Amino acid sequence: MSKHEKTELGLSTLLNPVPVVMVSSAGKNPESDLERPNICTIAWAGTVNSEPPMLSISVRKSRHSHKLISDTREFVVNLVGKSLAKNCDLCGVKSGADMDKFDKCGLTAVKAKGLEYAYAIEQAPVSLSCKVISVTEFGSHDMFVAEIVAITCDKYLLDEEGKLCLDKANLVTYSHGEYFLLGDKLGFFGYSVADKEVFEKRMGYKKTHDKYVRERDSKTNKKEEKKKKGKRF
Ligand SMILES: Cc1cc2nc3c(=O)[nH]c(=O)nc-3n(C[C@H](O)[C@H](O)[C@H](O)COP(=O)(O)O)c2cc1C
Repeated sequence: MSKHEKTELGLSTLLNPVPVVMVSSAGKNPESDLERPNICTIAWAGTVNSEPPMLSISVRKSRHSHKLISDTREFVVNLVGKSLAKNCDLCGVKSGADMDKFDKCGLTAVKAKGLEYAYAIEQAPVSLSCKVISVTEFGSHDMFVAEIVAITCDKYLLDEEGKLCLDKANLVTYSHGEYFLLGDKLGFFGYSVADKEVFEKRMGYKKTHDKYVRERDSKTNKKEEKKKKGKRF
């Protein structure tokens, strides 16, 4: 059987991998048990616009976070590094209606920059403060579209020139029900057409441009040879 022989699957949300994030929010009265700072794990999150920067999260009405976010129209998207992975899972299986998840996870709630009510997770490498601008109800989830109004990050993620090196954050991704650590860097935006100097600089000099071009051309040549011989793969 050829590797690419197809079969049909049942319909599902199979777009993968996706970012998995810890969304923090709080009610207007953070002293009360039902409005204290809370964390909810969200995998249905995405970027929706660049100018202004906007993102969306899709949340079921039954989530405690849905109520907090609807009340204040604020939330924080905290990116998840390897050291937060287990807490990220826990915040996705327990509800803030029943427990203080910051306390349970040993995490620190800090007032989110640019927001009135929401808290960020101090231990998250990057936190995006968001203000809701629209809510769209679909069948199972409500999609909150929000503008990113402030971003904070751990200082160690910046290089000497102040450039954000997100690869240092050891980010976690989610695919088909499982968590993964991001793997090797394969390239960068436009690397397929980058010149030698740019390529070597951006790839950290691990692999020379010549080696990359040799590998790429040898793969292309092999494919073409197979095609000529009429073989499929
Ligand atoms: C990996 C993972 C991803 C999740 N993604 C979503 C999501 O995108 N939307 C959603 O409504 N719930 C999602 N959940 C479920 C909620 O995180 C979970 O129901 C949580 O307990 C809700 O917390 P809360 O009641 O304190 O808001 C996810 C859970 C896990 C473990």
